[in-house]
Amino acid sequence: MIPTWLLVVLAIPVVLVALFKLWERHTLKQFKKVNGKAKFDTMPSKGFVSSLMGVLSQEDAFFWDREVDGSLKYGKGERVYHTFLGPKSLVIVLHPEDVQKILMRTAEYSRVKPPTSSTFHRMVSQSLGQVPASEWRKHRNILAPAFANLDNYVPTFDETIQHMLNLWDAKIDSTGEAKIEAGDQMQRMTLDVLGKTIFGQDLGSVDGRSDQIRDDYEVVFPLIFSPKDMLFPFLKTKEQLAASDRFEEGIRNIIETRIANKTKSERFSMLDSMIESVDNETNTGFTGEQLHHNVIGFFLAGHETTASVLGFTLYELAANKELQEKCREEVDRVVGKEKEVQPDHIEQLEYIPLVIKEMQRMYQATGLVPLVASSDTELGGYRIPKGTLLSASINYIHRDKQIWKDPDVFRPERFLEEESTGRHAFAYIPFSAGPHTCLGNKFSLLEQKIFYVKLLQQFTLDVEKGYKLQPWEKSSVTPGFKLVIKRRN
Ligand code: HEM
Repeated sequence: MIPTWLLVVLAIPVVLVALFKLWERHTLKQFKKVNGKAKFDTMPSKGFVSSLMGVLSQEDAFFWDREVDGSLKYGKGERVYHTFLGPKSLVIVLHPEDVQKILMRTAEYSRVKPPTSSTFHRMVSQSLGQVPASEWRKHRNILAPAFANLDNYVPTFDETIQHMLNLWDAKIDSTGEAKIEAGDQMQRMTLDVLGKTIFGQDLGSVDGRSDQIRDDYEVVFPLIFSPKDMLFPFLKTKEQLAASDRFEEGIRNIIETRIANKTKSERFSMLDSMIESVDNETNTGFTGEQLHHNVIGFFLAGHETTASVLGFTLYELAANKELQEKCREEVDRVVGKEKEVQPDHIEQLEYIPLVIKEMQRMYQATGLVPLVASSDTELGGYRIPKGTLLSASINYIHRDKQIWKDPDVFRPERFLEEESTGRHAFAYIPFSAGPHTCLGNKFSLLEQKIFYVKLLQQFTLDVEKGYKLQPWEKSSVTPGFKLVIKRRN
């Protein structure tokens, strides 16, 4: 005879699983087809357990990366699909018309603070991308002037890129070649560009020299997106806590010194612009805390995003000789051997901008844009209850066969005017779209263009023998290949 206590122990997990399944089914029943007939004609869904595993596994990078696969698998031909973010429902939006609806941020859809790590909250919760709708306009108004005249940044882009290329050149050995860790170098270059343009300080990343702010940044930034720090914030190590304190103190010192001494960077900087600007609607400027969070927010928004697409483009240019030659011909025609790239040169480029567009279609670092349904609504033919988290899947839309012919083929010409006519305005949104569209989009594009011009002026490119981009790398931040450079004759 089985003792009662054993029966109870055995029954507990069975009851828990049954309750959990009931909860899951009840949740999904709220996402019914608008004109559905079947009793449970609900939105296709990625189950709770697989969603949770995705978030918990570091490899899944907080589900930002794999949503194309997820969308194909769980979307099953629908315009939306359901997944879980912890116990919350998250609906991934896959069709440009629905994406337009949510990104235009009408009263029905608003920005949401997704669950974030404690480090994220501590450092950037008061920045433009994160503040509630009531404060957003003020932040945008104060920050926009920093991007009003991008020509201000051209000398810094030129000088930082040239400095890195000189270091590459010095590595060329007697074989006439040098092997460069492409992804790593793009991370370093974009970080130095941001240090100089945000607050006029060289963080020495390209040089590889020690700099306190940069050393701490390298500890702090992985924490910002760490699911572990989100779920178990108390598990941070002493070193991580110390680096976070030092990093914040370093940024605060720079800001306070600027304000107290009324000094400015040698060249125009975003921080100087932020300190001087006031919101013309409320006639107020930023508080110290808002300045602090927006400075860190710019690093967060502008670093890996740009480094990532640069890394993948480098691979494409190095691996595809025909493409490389075509871009080089344009550089030679427009810029020739001139040492400093001028804004005028950039204006004249026609083909390289198409290449960048196509790269940003294929390799998108910011795949999801988090929003919330502020009232009951309808998307993709399904009812969406108030409070549901929503996100456009930029990567999916950029590869949707209904929109793009041969979406996995790299073909910059698809962005020529004649081929773009009729394409939905929200079918290509690497920088998102609508009122919250990326504030640094033109800044990043300009940096990318200047980099390719200078690179192709000076070197021919190849990929280290035997290396082939692995499919999983496409969902990582930067590809891990070695770029082989040779001086041009
Ligand atoms: C290839 C590079 C980049 C990509 C792919 C990218 C992409 C994005 C995306 C998808 C958003 C979300 C917009 C939304 O919520 O709808 C965004 C917002 C933002 N980005 Fe970028 N970004 C890049 C570079 C930069 C740079 C270099 C900066 C600044 C230096 C920057 C600053 C911002 C800011 C401040 C926002 C918040 C805008 C707002 O909420 O009003 N980004 N970006």
